[in-house]
Amino acid sequence: MSDAGEPRGGAFVVFEGIDGAGTTTQAALYAARLRARRRLVHVTNEPSGGPIGSLIRQVLRHRVAMPSGRQPDTMALLFAADRLDHLGSEIEPCLREGYVVLSDRYDLSSLAYQATTGAGGARELAEMVAWIRELNRHALRPDATIVLDVSPEVAATRRDKRGGPRDLYETTELQARLAEVYRRAEDLTPGDRVIHLDGEAPVSAVTDAIEAALAPIVG
Ligand code: TYD
Repeated sequence: MSDAGEPRGGAFVVFEGIDGAGTTTQAALYAARLRARRRLVHVTNEPSGGPIGSLIRQVLRHRVAMPSGRQPDTMALLFAADRLDHLGSEIEPCLREGYVVLSDRYDLSSLAYQATTGAGGARELAEMVAWIRELNRHALRPDATIVLDVSPEVAATRRDKRGGPRDLYETTELQARLAEVYRRAEDLTPGDRVIHLDGEAPVSAVTDAIEAALAPIVG
Protein backbone atom coordinates (compact mmCIF):
# COMPACT_ATOMS: atom_id res chain seq x y z
CA MET A 1 0.00 0.00 0.00
CA SER A 2 1.20 3.52 -0.68
CA ASP A 3 1.34 6.23 1.98
CA ALA A 4 -2.05 7.48 0.85
CA GLY A 5 -3.47 3.99 1.39
CA GLU A 6 -4.36 3.48 -2.28
CA PRO A 7 -4.49 -0.06 -3.58
CA ARG A 8 -1.70 -1.07 -5.92
CA GLY A 9 -1.56 -3.89 -8.35
CA GLY A 10 2.15 -4.03 -9.04
CA ALA A 11 5.18 -4.54 -6.86
CA PHE A 12 8.02 -2.21 -5.96
CA VAL A 13 11.48 -3.77 -5.92
CA VAL A 14 14.77 -1.98 -5.27
CA PHE A 15 18.28 -3.09 -6.32
CA GLU A 16 21.20 -1.97 -4.17
CA GLY A 17 24.94 -2.40 -3.72
CA ILE A 18 28.26 -0.61 -4.08
CA ASP A 19 29.33 0.90 -7.42
CA GLY A 20 30.05 -2.05 -9.70
CA ALA A 21 27.80 -4.49 -7.79
CA GLY A 22 25.71 -5.05 -10.93
CA THR A 23 22.42 -3.41 -9.94
CA THR A 24 21.84 -1.86 -13.39
CA THR A 25 22.67 -5.09 -15.26
CA GLN A 26 20.55 -7.27 -13.00
CA ALA A 27 17.54 -4.93 -12.96
CA ALA A 28 17.55 -5.03 -16.79
CA LEU A 29 17.97 -8.82 -16.97
CA TYR A 30 15.28 -9.50 -14.40
CA ALA A 31 12.95 -7.06 -16.21
CA ALA A 32 13.46 -9.00 -19.46
CA ARG A 33 12.49 -12.24 -17.71
CA LEU A 34 9.33 -10.67 -16.29
CA ARG A 35 8.41 -9.22 -19.69
CA ALA A 36 8.84 -12.66 -21.26
CA ARG A 37 6.13 -13.74 -18.81
CA ARG A 38 3.99 -10.84 -20.05
CA ARG A 39 4.30 -8.81 -16.87
CA LEU A 40 4.14 -5.02 -17.10
CA VAL A 41 7.56 -3.79 -15.95
CA HIS A 42 9.02 -0.34 -15.47
CA VAL A 43 12.76 -0.04 -14.82
CA THR A 44 13.95 3.18 -13.28
CA ASN A 45 16.87 4.50 -11.26
CA GLU A 46 18.05 7.06 -8.71
CA PRO A 47 19.24 9.69 -9.15
CA SER A 48 16.17 9.90 -11.38
CA GLY A 49 15.87 11.44 -14.82
CA GLY A 50 13.89 14.35 -13.33
CA PRO A 51 15.16 17.91 -12.72
CA ILE A 52 16.64 17.26 -9.25
CA GLY A 53 18.17 13.97 -10.39
CA SER A 54 19.83 15.77 -13.30
CA LEU A 55 21.39 18.27 -10.93
CA ILE A 56 22.66 15.41 -8.73
CA ARG A 57 24.26 13.73 -11.76
CA GLN A 58 26.15 16.93 -12.50
CA VAL A 59 27.57 16.86 -8.96
CA LEU A 60 28.45 13.15 -9.27
CA ARG A 61 30.28 13.87 -12.53
CA HIS A 62 32.16 16.86 -11.04
CA ARG A 63 30.40 19.35 -13.32
CA VAL A 64 28.87 21.19 -10.36
CA ALA A 65 30.75 21.82 -7.11
CA MET A 66 29.49 22.58 -3.62
CA PRO A 67 31.34 23.61 -0.42
CA SER A 68 33.06 20.39 0.63
CA GLY A 69 32.20 20.49 4.36
CA ARG A 70 28.51 20.74 3.52
CA GLN A 71 28.49 18.34 0.62
CA PRO A 72 27.17 15.15 2.32
CA ASP A 73 24.25 17.03 3.91
CA THR A 74 23.42 18.89 0.72
CA MET A 75 23.54 15.63 -1.23
CA ALA A 76 21.29 13.89 1.34
CA LEU A 77 18.75 16.70 0.91
CA LEU A 78 18.96 16.60 -2.88
CA PHE A 79 18.60 12.80 -3.01
CA ALA A 80 15.59 12.94 -0.64
CA ALA A 81 13.95 15.64 -2.79
CA ASP A 82 14.68 13.69 -5.96
CA ARG A 83 13.14 10.59 -4.36
CA LEU A 84 9.81 12.28 -3.62
CA ASP A 85 9.77 13.75 -7.13
CA HIS A 86 10.57 10.30 -8.55
CA LEU A 87 7.83 8.66 -6.46
CA GLY A 88 5.19 11.17 -7.43
CA SER A 89 6.04 11.47 -11.10
CA GLU A 90 7.00 7.91 -11.96
CA ILE A 91 6.95 5.16 -9.32
CA GLU A 92 3.49 5.61 -7.81
CA PRO A 93 1.67 6.21 -11.13
CA CYS A 94 3.25 3.00 -12.51
CA LEU A 95 2.31 1.01 -9.40
CA ARG A 96 -1.28 2.24 -9.68
CA GLU A 97 -1.37 0.90 -13.23
CA GLY A 98 -0.23 -2.49 -12.04
CA TYR A 99 3.43 -2.34 -13.15
CA VAL A 100 6.24 -4.10 -11.40
CA VAL A 101 8.61 -1.19 -10.72
CA LEU A 102 12.31 -2.03 -10.46
CA SER A 103 14.40 0.83 -9.08
CA ASP A 104 18.15 0.78 -9.46
CA ARG A 105 18.87 2.35 -6.01
CA TYR A 106 16.56 4.03 -3.46
CA ASP A 107 16.85 5.39 0.09
CA LEU A 108 19.18 2.60 1.21
CA SER A 109 21.78 4.30 -1.01
CA SER A 110 21.32 7.55 0.92
CA LEU A 111 21.58 5.69 4.25
CA ALA A 112 24.80 4.06 3.04
CA TYR A 113 26.57 6.73 0.96
CA GLN A 114 25.50 10.01 2.60
CA ALA A 115 25.70 8.61 6.16
CA THR A 116 29.16 7.16 5.52
CA THR A 117 30.51 10.31 3.87
CA GLY A 118 28.78 12.63 6.36
CA ALA A 119 29.69 10.97 9.65
CA GLY A 120 32.95 11.86 11.37
CA GLY A 121 34.28 14.35 13.85
CA ALA A 122 31.64 15.18 16.43
CA ARG A 123 28.87 13.64 14.39
CA GLU A 124 28.21 9.95 14.89
CA LEU A 125 27.13 7.62 12.13
CA ALA A 126 23.92 6.83 14.07
CA GLU A 127 23.02 10.53 14.14
CA MET A 128 23.52 10.88 10.39
CA VAL A 129 21.47 7.72 9.72
CA ALA A 130 18.62 9.01 11.92
CA TRP A 131 18.58 12.35 10.09
CA ILE A 132 18.55 10.71 6.65
CA ARG A 133 15.71 8.41 7.75
CA GLU A 134 13.78 11.48 8.84
CA LEU A 135 14.36 13.18 5.48
CA ASN A 136 13.01 10.09 3.74
CA ARG A 137 10.12 9.38 6.06
CA HIS A 138 7.52 9.94 3.34
CA ALA A 139 9.25 7.60 0.90
CA LEU A 140 7.06 4.59 0.05
CA ARG A 141 8.58 1.37 1.42
CA PRO A 142 9.60 -1.14 -1.24
CA ASP A 143 8.07 -4.63 -1.25
CA ALA A 144 11.62 -5.99 -1.36
CA THR A 145 15.19 -4.74 -1.61
CA ILE A 146 17.78 -6.93 -3.32
CA VAL A 147 21.31 -6.23 -2.08
CA LEU A 148 24.01 -7.56 -4.39
CA ASP A 149 27.03 -8.26 -2.21
CA VAL A 150 30.39 -8.00 -3.94
CA SER A 151 33.88 -7.42 -2.60
CA PRO A 152 35.33 -3.95 -3.18
CA GLU A 153 38.07 -5.57 -5.32
CA VAL A 154 35.64 -7.27 -7.72
CA ALA A 155 33.57 -4.09 -7.98
CA ALA A 156 36.71 -2.02 -8.69
CA THR A 157 37.75 -4.39 -11.48
CA ARG A 158 34.29 -4.07 -13.06
CA ARG A 159 34.39 -0.26 -12.81
CA ASP A 160 37.86 -0.21 -14.41
CA LYS A 161 36.57 -2.35 -17.29
CA ARG A 162 33.65 0.04 -17.77
CA GLY A 163 36.17 2.90 -18.08
CA GLY A 164 35.29 6.59 -18.23
CA PRO A 165 35.85 9.23 -15.58
CA ARG A 166 35.36 8.35 -11.90
CA ASP A 167 32.16 9.57 -10.26
CA LEU A 168 32.23 11.38 -6.92
CA TYR A 169 31.89 8.28 -4.74
CA GLU A 170 34.07 5.93 -6.78
CA THR A 171 37.15 5.92 -4.56
CA THR A 172 38.76 2.70 -3.34
CA GLU A 173 38.66 3.64 0.34
CA LEU A 174 35.00 4.74 0.36
CA GLN A 175 33.84 1.73 -1.66
CA ALA A 176 35.54 -0.63 0.83
CA ARG A 177 33.69 1.05 3.72
CA LEU A 178 30.42 0.91 1.77
CA ALA A 179 30.86 -2.82 1.07
CA GLU A 180 30.90 -3.34 4.86
CA VAL A 181 27.84 -1.12 5.32
CA TYR A 182 25.87 -3.02 2.65
CA ARG A 183 26.69 -6.36 4.32
CA ARG A 184 24.42 -5.29 7.19
CA ALA A 185 22.04 -3.20 5.10
CA GLU A 186 18.97 -4.47 6.99
CA ASP A 187 20.14 -2.49 10.04
CA LEU A 188 19.63 0.70 8.03
CA THR A 189 16.03 0.02 7.00
CA PRO A 190 14.38 -1.82 9.91
CA GLY A 191 11.08 -3.41 8.91
CA ASP A 192 11.98 -3.63 5.22
CA ARG A 193 12.39 -6.96 3.44
CA VAL A 194 16.09 -6.98 2.53
CA ILE A 195 17.42 -9.94 0.54
CA HIS A 196 21.18 -10.44 0.20
CA LEU A 197 22.46 -12.26 -2.89
CA ASP A 198 25.96 -13.14 -4.01
CA GLY A 199 26.75 -10.55 -6.66
CA GLU A 200 29.98 -12.33 -7.60
CA ALA A 201 28.20 -15.38 -9.02
CA PRO A 202 27.97 -15.66 -12.85
CA VAL A 203 25.59 -13.07 -14.29
CA SER A 204 22.78 -15.47 -15.24
CA ALA A 205 23.08 -17.29 -11.89
CA VAL A 206 22.52 -13.97 -10.12
CA THR A 207 19.41 -13.34 -12.25
CA ASP A 208 18.19 -16.88 -11.40
CA ALA A 209 18.69 -16.15 -7.70
CA ILE A 210 16.79 -12.85 -8.00
CA GLU A 211 13.93 -14.57 -9.82
CA ALA A 212 13.70 -17.27 -7.15
CA ALA A 213 13.93 -14.82 -4.25
CA LEU A 214 11.27 -12.52 -5.69
CA ALA A 215 8.85 -15.23 -6.88
CA PRO A 216 6.73 -15.05 -3.70
CA ILE A 217 6.59 -11.26 -3.90
CA VAL A 218 6.30 -10.51 -7.61
CA GLY A 219 4.44 -13.73 -8.46
P1 TYD B 1 25.01 4.69 -10.35
O1 TYD B 1 23.86 4.01 -9.68
O2 TYD B 1 26.22 3.89 -10.57
O3 TYD B 1 24.43 5.31 -11.66
P2 TYD B 1 25.20 5.54 -13.02
O4 TYD B 1 25.37 4.16 -13.57
O5 TYD B 1 24.21 6.37 -13.79
O6 TYD B 1 26.47 6.25 -12.71
O7 TYD B 1 25.46 6.02 -9.63
C1 TYD B 1 24.72 6.69 -8.76
C2 TYD B 1 25.62 7.16 -7.65
O8 TYD B 1 24.85 7.90 -6.73
C3 TYD B 1 26.25 6.02 -6.87
O9 TYD B 1 27.61 6.32 -6.60
C4 TYD B 1 25.48 6.02 -5.58
C5 TYD B 1 25.06 7.43 -5.43
N1 TYD B 1 23.83 7.61 -4.63
C6 TYD B 1 23.93 8.18 -3.37
O10 TYD B 1 25.03 8.53 -2.93
N2 TYD B 1 22.80 8.38 -2.63
C7 TYD B 1 21.56 8.03 -3.09
O11 TYD B 1 20.55 8.22 -2.38
C8 TYD B 1 21.48 7.43 -4.40
C9 TYD B 1 20.14 7.05 -4.93
C10 TYD B 1 22.63 7.24 -5.13
